[in-house]
Amino acid sequence: MAAVPETHAHVEPGAPIVRITALKKSYGSNQVLKGIDLEVARGEVIAIIGKSGSGKSTLLRCINGLEEFQEGSLTVDAKPLLHDSAMAMRELRQRVGMIFQSFNLFPHLSVGRNVMLAPTLVKKRNKTEAEAQARKLLARVGLAEKFDAMPDQLSGGQQQRVAIARALAMEPAVLLCDEITSALDPELVGEVCAWWSRWPMRA
Ligand SMILES: Nc1ncnc2c1ncn2[C@@H]1O[C@H](COP(=O)(O)OP(=O)(O)OP(=O)(O)O)[C@@H](O)[C@H]1O
Ligand SMILES: [Mg+2]
Repeated sequence: MAAVPETHAHVEPGAPIVRITALKKSYGSNQVLKGIDLEVARGEVIAIIGKSGSGKSTLLRCINGLEEFQEGSLTVDAKPLLHDSAMAMRELRQRVGMIFQSFNLFPHLSVGRNVMLAPTLVKKRNKTEAEAQARKLLARVGLAEKFDAMPDQLSGGQQQRVAIARALAMEPAVLLCDEITSALDPELVGEVCAWWSRWPMRA
């Protein structure tokens, strides 16, 4: 029998990468998520649409473990979210990337260093490899020439594209995007969305 990597030994083929069952989340007496069921297949791109305050960001924050929920279950790659286990949460965050509406680039690091930081620190990738990967990703988001620029020398849309490249550099299994195109100009929104829909197949 072929060896199965331990982390995947219990995962049925074709199992959803994210499985959410009867998830409930309240802030005090304000119940925001009232029993969410959602399955996302590997490679699938889905959009969550709803009015302001309906809980979209809250749901995304639950998926990457930034928020605790009161009821229901949530698994990523068949692993349940265990808020009590620091190690499990660290592993989860390596597999689940998130990009926000505000870019949150590190202001004291160049664009290239922003993209290289997590792979070198967390994945222990060597500097040469991390730099090559960062240059490739920056080229993909149309910013090849900005490798040495500082974030405050970039437009908002350019900063967001750096944030996208930075998230992709961790090669996440799940990428959560919270209204990431709201600061981009219209041509770029189309470009980013088209690019997005091709991304999972290449990963
Ligand atoms: N940290 C928090 N503490 C208390 N209440 C919160 C907190 N974060 C969000 N809420 C409340 O939860 C509800 C859902 O907020 P959330 O940010 O998830 O909405 P959203 O669908 O992302 O809205 P938008 O489209 O405006 O971004 C809102 O009523 C909000 O006031
Ligand atoms: Mg929101």
